[in-house]
Amino acid sequence: MYAVTLAAPDDFDGWRAAARALASAGVAPGEVGWKVEGQEAGDLFGTGTSPPAGAPFPVPRAFLSLAETAICHSDPERFALLYALLLRIRTTPKALEDEADPLVRRVEAMAKAVRRDIHKMHAFVRFREVEEEGAVRFVAWFEPEHHIVRAASGFFARRFANMRWSILTPELSVHWDGEALTEGPGAARADAPDRDPVEAVWKTYYASIFNPARLKVGAMLKEMPKKYWKNMPETALVGQLVAGAQGREARMVETSRTQIGSNALAAWQAVREEARGCTRCHLFECATQTVFGEGPVTAPLMFVGEQPGDQEDLAGKPFIGPAGQLFDRALGEAGIDRGQAYVTNAVKHFKFERRGKRRIHSKPDAGEIEACRWWIEQERAILRPTLTVALGATAARSLFHKAVTISAVRGRPHAMPEGGEAWVTVHPSFLLRVRDNRDAEYARFVEDLVRVKERLAELA
Ligand code: URA
Repeated sequence: MYAVTLAAPDDFDGWRAAARALASAGVAPGEVGWKVEGQEAGDLFGTGTSPPAGAPFPVPRAFLSLAETAICHSDPERFALLYALLLRIRTTPKALEDEADPLVRRVEAMAKAVRRDIHKMHAFVRFREVEEEGAVRFVAWFEPEHHIVRAASGFFARRFANMRWSILTPELSVHWDGEALTEGPGAARADAPDRDPVEAVWKTYYASIFNPARLKVGAMLKEMPKKYWKNMPETALVGQLVAGAQGREARMVETSRTQIGSNALAAWQAVREEARGCTRCHLFECATQTVFGEGPVTAPLMFVGEQPGDQEDLAGKPFIGPAGQLFDRALGEAGIDRGQAYVTNAVKHFKFERRGKRRIHSKPDAGEIEACRWWIEQERAILRPTLTVALGATAARSLFHKAVTISAVRGRPHAMPEGGEAWVTVHPSFLLRVRDNRDAEYARFVEDLVRVKERLAELA
């Protein structure tokens, strides 16, 4: 029997080194006991230490990445399960592709639960300001379900790089001093401050994005389980907002855009700030920055493109490259002032392939559109535009939650469940690419814009 003691519950490097050595020596899963330093050893924990050295073998990257995530799960069997899967992969390199296999399914489910927990931590950590030796530090309390604190904290270091902050959790605390992350022991709820002025900002933000017309308590609980509510200032408002939803909806309809303007601007700024650190899909890894929407938050007209291009990615502004210039020309011909409209994209990071020094646009896939819908829904919830114009299939897919054929939906209004109308036309870059009837296609695009302008006047 071999005994492996890992340095921490999420010690992937330790697990990998031990698992490689054991697997290359052909040690069976039942012959290994795993434990974490400082924890009680179970009955099966052995006494042997190092296995005899065997020949190294290749391991697919997909497995390593799955194992690195799944190891953060709180299931005490995770080390043994991952080791059993590693042995399987050694003899059947494509084992991970068998989605019906119970072991593969169990490990995938563990990784999924971990990813979800990381997402929850990113979304629900709320910092509170404290004075510390004359300086300000932001402190948050969080109770994760799995051992995710290390895996999740890089996000906060990138996003709050200029702040000094600490996140306290029962198992581990992490601290950022503006330059480096350090770790400390776990803490208790009482070690974190309770209330502070930052809460007022969150409450304003939350109250202004809360749309009673879309109230779905079940969905809300699923996305934001009640266990997180106690640490989130805005949830103090939830009962009140839910109770007053009907009356509020009626009042909201009557409220003029100018009155809601200042709340909307604060909310929009908060969302844009949050989107800067977006890691909802992998596209943030290669893009220069998040390209958020731009324009007045009181605009009744919103245009949604596909995703930023090369120039937009560098400048951080939507529609400024060749497609943007053509779009501006068409808007001018249709008599629409771009400065009075809000212009954004369905996907907020540039997706590209490198060809030599060039970065070639690559179409976002359904998963990327879906991940980024979070932001466009917030933009739409804040602006509540009378008309939203989807420029091309990606934007239409994001708005309608399904793939649509442009020719089938083009040039007529589509009532949106949350209020307002959607219109669909082609993407300006289609007009740059198209070979046949380019002038006629362009004229049709301008016509679509004219109809949008007329419809807006009708609805005003
Ligand atoms: N294409 C888009 O869809 N959006 C931009 O911002 C630029 C090009």
